[in-house]
Amino acid sequence: MGLASFSFSGRSNRTPESPISYFMEQAIENPNLISLAAGLVDTDSLPVKAVADTMARLFADPQTGKAALQYGTTQGYTLLREKILQHVCNLDGVKPEQLNLTAQDVVVSTGSQQLLYLLSEILLDPGDIVITEAPSYFVYHSVLASGDVRVLTVPMDEEGMQTEELARLLEQLDRAGELHRVKLLYVVDYFQNPSGRSLSPERRKELLNIVRRYQDRQRILILEDAAYRELRFEGDDWRSIKSHDTGNEFVIYAGTFSKPCAPGLKTGYALLPSELIEPLLRLKGNHDFGSNNLSQYVLNALIENGAYHEQVRYLAGVYRQKRDAMLEALEREFSDLPGTHWTSPRGGMFVWLTLPEDINAGPSGKLLKECIREGVIYVPGEFGHVGKPGTRPTNEARLSYGDASIEKIHEGIKRLRRAVETVRRGEKKKERVAVAAS
Ligand SMILES: Cc1ncc(COP(=O)(O)O)c(C=O)c1O
Repeated sequence: MGLASFSFSGRSNRTPESPISYFMEQAIENPNLISLAAGLVDTDSLPVKAVADTMARLFADPQTGKAALQYGTTQGYTLLREKILQHVCNLDGVKPEQLNLTAQDVVVSTGSQQLLYLLSEILLDPGDIVITEAPSYFVYHSVLASGDVRVLTVPMDEEGMQTEELARLLEQLDRAGELHRVKLLYVVDYFQNPSGRSLSPERRKELLNIVRRYQDRQRILILEDAAYRELRFEGDDWRSIKSHDTGNEFVIYAGTFSKPCAPGLKTGYALLPSELIEPLLRLKGNHDFGSNNLSQYVLNALIENGAYHEQVRYLAGVYRQKRDAMLEALEREFSDLPGTHWTSPRGGMFVWLTLPEDINAGPSGKLLKECIREGVIYVPGEFGHVGKPGTRPTNEARLSYGDASIEKIHEGIKRLRRAVETVRRGEKKKERVAVAAS
């Protein structure tokens, strides 16, 4: 007798395979491959000693140790929530009262990824609209795809999302009678994944002004994903969009301890309008009724004993050196190639490389195959764009200096250039054959 196949849910069928799993597999299968693809943080900088000492101290007191090993609350450890609130307000130079915020408006999550997911679940129905930057964080696109949500995009320039274009898009949607479907505006406004760009201070305020224009008819929330904010190694820290939302009405600020501390602790958080807390916690209750309690105790202690802030300061130096190495290597290898340019991030861990238009750097293009042969890998920029294949730019790449050593960054960019040359020679040869045949 045969065995009937499973019938998966619509959500499951709509959820695309993570493009990153392919890159992880490649890196594991081929240890000589230099990965400029993985979004991993710098392994050598992970705060092993600080976490070991902090944990030893936590467990030296049996009461605290037991509390940390017990279930926590769905919303998160109160002392940590208080510290998070103070921490974000300190970054912004404001007091929580000025933003109408208390620790009751803070939720701790299993990484900020869980937060992005849960927020989408409580706010979005199939057919609703989320507006993002182009390019944007592709894992979030995948969350939206699984919920059958429409993603519309606004182009970026060196100052981040082009707010004039956003205003135009919203006017268009309003005229088309679709304003009521626009629920979220998603921006990664500090050293964006994937482009490395940040949203300028003027545009931060402008974004809020734009959503306020519609406030009596449609509450459009801004989801400010500040995942890379603290990995800043150059320039001033720009105030968050949240810091301008004085009534706590329009902006959800999502942060994480993964990038500035340790992704293994998998702890993120959000500061959000009070009306969202209850529905969010009901859903989170169904998911896990609380994130890893031990991680929350460890983070609370790391902030309290100063080790967290020390780590953030230390990381800034490490990532600056790695950014410098990548920019030097790009300058050396690519400055003679017309049509090529790249971003110069002032924080975070990504550089966005744009190649000449005739070079297909997409997942099924020649460059990626050639790169794997040369022993280097990047994330095709195509993943950061939405729309059907064929409509997305294919000549872009996300290059990460997160985990690769300085030597590997130099060697990786050298290999990338060699791969580009091989692909270009191949294209020229094809052209010559075509001319000869015509
Ligand atoms: C822009 C952005 N947001 C959110 C996340 C989620 O990180 P985590 O769940 O580890 O906090 C990431 C991870 O790479 C990211 O790049």
